[in-house]
Amino acid sequence: MQATNILNARIVQSDSAGISAAASLLSQGQIVAVPTETVYGLAADASNAAAVAAIYAAKGRPDFNPLIVHVADVARAELLAIFSELAHNLANAFWPGPLTLVLPQRQNNGVTGAVTAGLQTIALRCPAHPAMRALLAESGMALAAPSANKSGAISPTKVEHVAEGLGKDISLILDGGVCTAGLESTIIAIRENGWQLLRPGPITAEQVAAIAGVEPLPVASDSIEAPGQLASHYAPRKLLRLEAVAAESDEWLIGFGQVLGDDNLSEIGNLAEAAAKLFDALHRADNSDSPKIAVASIPDEGIGVAINDRLARAAVR
Ligand code: TXA
Ligand code: MG
Repeated sequence: MQATNILNARIVQSDSAGISAAASLLSQGQIVAVPTETVYGLAADASNAAAVAAIYAAKGRPDFNPLIVHVADVARAELLAIFSELAHNLANAFWPGPLTLVLPQRQNNGVTGAVTAGLQTIALRCPAHPAMRALLAESGMALAAPSANKSGAISPTKVEHVAEGLGKDISLILDGGVCTAGLESTIIAIRENGWQLLRPGPITAEQVAAIAGVEPLPVASDSIEAPGQLASHYAPRKLLRLEAVAAESDEWLIGFGQVLGDDNLSEIGNLAEAAAKLFDALHRADNSDSPKIAVASIPDEGIGVAINDRLARAAVR
């Protein structure tokens, strides 16, 4: 276990010594940052009210915005929520992986009320990243974990991003390298009569529909059930212009494909590569000398839908 001191946070490798250190902090009611395949998460024991309160405090997150609970497997998830046949089918198809299911909560499931912000439902995810899986196994806990960034800011896909945003507020960050998917999990709500897409993500609505056998139900446009869907989110400090074909003199251009830019999400026009690089490119643009940011147009298909969702919210002031 190699430790470095940045601000207050100790950054440790997610080897067995690092995982034990993190699990031990969790059992003392502390919060730790941990890599997942989507973005880094800020984890706490989902049954510990004070630990969950510490997540909201560190992020500066409004307490009406509920957290995702991460579990080791479907069996654990079934102790917390009621699974319909559709929910089972989706979990079997996509877990472990970047899919979050919003399900009716079981009574007295041990999850502290602040996690779900008083809703009757609970958001559950079984992650694929080996470090997060090892932490779930070692701690034996269900872990509440939002993205490890200040509320509303650009999400973290590298340990440096976590240290920059939350390094003063937390004591331990597990280093698991760069997040491979790079965008937060797809959030699907299971309803009595079907399913809704609450947040587009690495698993596309088409992939979900193919397993579900039915198209999604509409979501009311004024619904803030998933505040990740609030108009302004993932926001850099600088103004951001979308669908740019060239940079103005005061802009840092994030390119895609033929639109080269100061940085390029994927010169070969690969959307999965672009998704993996998006938040890092936004962090870099925000830290550059240019006063403004422009981003090239991204095809609105496949995971491009999720990229454009994040970019549209990042551009809102
Ligand atoms: O990929 C991810 O999902 C990452 C990693 C760390 O797992 N986590 C993440 O968490 O993105 P967060 O807190 O940044 O986003 C959670 C989203 C929020 O938009 C929240 O409103 C929604 O999940 N959510 C949580 N519980 C919900 C519920 N019961 N009903 C509807 N939406 C819910
Ligand atoms: Mg977030």
